[in-house]
Amino acid sequence: MEKSIEQIHDDALREIEAATDDETLKQIAVRFLGRKGAVTGYLRSISQLPPDQRPAAGKRANEVKKLLEAAIEAARGRIAQAAARAGGDIDVSLPGRPARAGSLHPVTRVNNEICTIFSRLGFDIAEGPEIESDYYNFEALNFPPHHPARDMQDTFFVSEAVVLRTHTSPLQVRVMERTQPPVKVIAPGKVYRCDSDLTHSPVFHQVEGLLVDSNVSFGDLKGTLTTFIHQLFDKQIKLRFRPSFFPFTEPSAEVDIMCVICRGRGCRVCSHTGWLEILGSGMVHPAVLENVSYDTSRYSGFAFGVGVERLAMLKYGIDDIRRFFENDMRFLSQF
Ligand code: DAH
Repeated sequence: MEKSIEQIHDDALREIEAATDDETLKQIAVRFLGRKGAVTGYLRSISQLPPDQRPAAGKRANEVKKLLEAAIEAARGRIAQAAARAGGDIDVSLPGRPARAGSLHPVTRVNNEICTIFSRLGFDIAEGPEIESDYYNFEALNFPPHHPARDMQDTFFVSEAVVLRTHTSPLQVRVMERTQPPVKVIAPGKVYRCDSDLTHSPVFHQVEGLLVDSNVSFGDLKGTLTTFIHQLFDKQIKLRFRPSFFPFTEPSAEVDIMCVICRGRGCRVCSHTGWLEILGSGMVHPAVLENVSYDTSRYSGFAFGVGVERLAMLKYGIDDIRRFFENDMRFLSQF
């Protein structure tokens, strides 16, 4: 054997310490650790040693191999640091990379637009908890226990008496509990339902509206919602109030708007009816007013609840609600 493993170790360390660039390090690695390198050659020559010396020699050679690998890695770090300190590859005369400006999410944009329109009409904005008690989500809204209308809501239960709110309507009760009429608020926020397909997401956004005062009529509801839709879309969009049922309103109406895609002629989006259902509404049920100790002989009110994703889909011509939640930059940067 020409060189002892200790000799190889010393030679390699000396060269590694002296190296000042990556290329030299790479060559050192090849010469000592590569397939035809000194350490590899030494390992191969061990078979010529007397059998009783082979285990110790093999063990030491493998140790040296690891030590050299570590020394090369450390030298690489040292060289990179020195380069950075010296200003290395940085060309300070190059133009800077512009930071990419973000944009508002389409759901946020439509939510903001809805809030702006109602603010101009004099509505305050209220917020409430997403983890809600059965009392506010159902009971106070005139859904007695076991009422079949509870089934329509696909509720996520936290416990028997606590749910993820299925709608923003609990805000009606929370706001009325802490204020006396006149009440004029909207309540935007996230709601949760165990439902998922092209047009349903387990979490989505609603905006609730509530107006309670003396002499509030269904005409006020129609006027307010018509103004809202005309401002959100345009003045040519017609509205249709269809009788419906909600436990917390009487009478109740669902509101359809003329299809904003085909403008009433009939298309795939409106199932060739020319109409799109966009919100639930009605006159606040006296039982709800009584739950917050309002004098029902003096006060009446209207309420409505609208789905924000639904409006955003119509406004921007999006046919799959899941696009909103995939965070695909190619989709989001269009807005
Ligand atoms: N909370 C209802 C839902 O999510 C929507 C709704 C209907 C809200 C009628 C209202 C209303 O305020 O008056 O299905």
